[in-house]
Amino acid sequence: MLTAMRQVKVPLKERSYSIFIGGGLLARLGAECAKLKLGQRCAVITDRNVGPRYARAAIASLKAAGFDPVLITVPAGETAKSLKTVQACYDELASHRLERKSFIVALGGGVVGDLAGFVAATYLRGVPFVQVPTTLLAQVDSSVGGKVGVNLKAGKNLVGAFYQPKLVLCDLDTLRTLPKREFRAGLAEVIKYGIIYDEALFERLENRLAKLLKLDAKLLGEVVARCCEIKAEVVGQDETETGLRAILNFGHTIGHAIENSFGYGKYLHGEAISIGQIAAAELSCAVLGFCGGCAERIRDLFKRAGLPTEISLTSAQRAKLLAAMKLDKKVSGGEIKFVLAEDIGKVVWGQKVPEELVVELLGGGPPDDSIP
Ligand code: NAD
Ligand code: GLY
Repeated sequence: MLTAMRQVKVPLKERSYSIFIGGGLLARLGAECAKLKLGQRCAVITDRNVGPRYARAAIASLKAAGFDPVLITVPAGETAKSLKTVQACYDELASHRLERKSFIVALGGGVVGDLAGFVAATYLRGVPFVQVPTTLLAQVDSSVGGKVGVNLKAGKNLVGAFYQPKLVLCDLDTLRTLPKREFRAGLAEVIKYGIIYDEALFERLENRLAKLLKLDAKLLGEVVARCCEIKAEVVGQDETETGLRAILNFGHTIGHAIENSFGYGKYLHGEAISIGQIAAAELSCAVLGFCGGCAERIRDLFKRAGLPTEISLTSAQRAKLLAAMKLDKKVSGGEIKFVLAEDIGKVVWGQKVPEELVVELLGGGPPDDSIP
């Protein structure tokens, strides 16, 4: 694919790094790593879908640049984002005698990135790592900003760290083999950036969605780069989520609870946060007077992107979902806090929402549906 390479910088003082975005970048992995003054030995962690497609190119590029890589392949999908897989990775790293100067390359989607990043943050008390995201979701969101971790049965991402990569390499060509459903799931995070930060991006998506769904190379590069710029700006101001960074969680309180209470994997992350963002837009109307027409535009864009816009729940499912929401990391002092929209392109975080309103939104009546 002939696209201009774009570079976005994540400004975090001594932990600053670059995100490269473009076609054919996998072949440049070794050369870019060589500029970072890393050790010679490295482990490429990938999954069973991505490995057969892209590991050979990644390994060849690393070898050509003088590195000595080993390949670690984990199962694909959300259920692999577990302490069990972390343990298996530690065992492989130790058996290959990787040392402190060695580095890890996360080659895959958000699951591999979060998992391998957590392994890198903790193995030998931390080894450097490089993100090579191969899903749209990972390129625009999870590979940037240093949130790494795994799930517990009790909830998503409950074990983790803030641990920044040394480099993010987004090869847009890899998106060509991504299943359509996964591409659409990534669009949920892309649309999120429009809602939380950039009305012009939201409008662009409204106008050019069909072209984006056809993977138009120029548009794709521009959109991925814009999302990375927004994430870099936000993370650069609030790396550890003491305030502003919370806006990136728009729609995630309900979204994470959907993923958790239906069992990881039934709803893809992007699908769950599509429903979550529409719900958050509706709560924004009720709590902040967000305009009904704007909430309708949001619902319409998710719908056109082929994402689920609602969920129908039995009362048992509703209770489970509310219980899962209360275990979310964003709960403080027992209160669930929401990110709500004031306008398209402008959101506020830390908003208290009465539980009855959430229950009502989820289609339930207050008395017997409240959480035990
Ligand atoms: P994923 O990693 O499960 O990838 C989706 C599927 O596509 C997998 O089956 C994978 O094997 C396959 N795949 C990946 N790249 C491919 C390619 N190029 N061609 C063919 N198949 C390919 O899912 P995801 O949507 O990338 O990431 C979701 C995860 O990211 C969730 O666990 C979520 O919590 C996490 N996340 C983290 C952050 C963060 O800031 N760390 C942000 C958003 C989401
Ligand atoms: N995806 C949420 C964050 O990175 O903060």
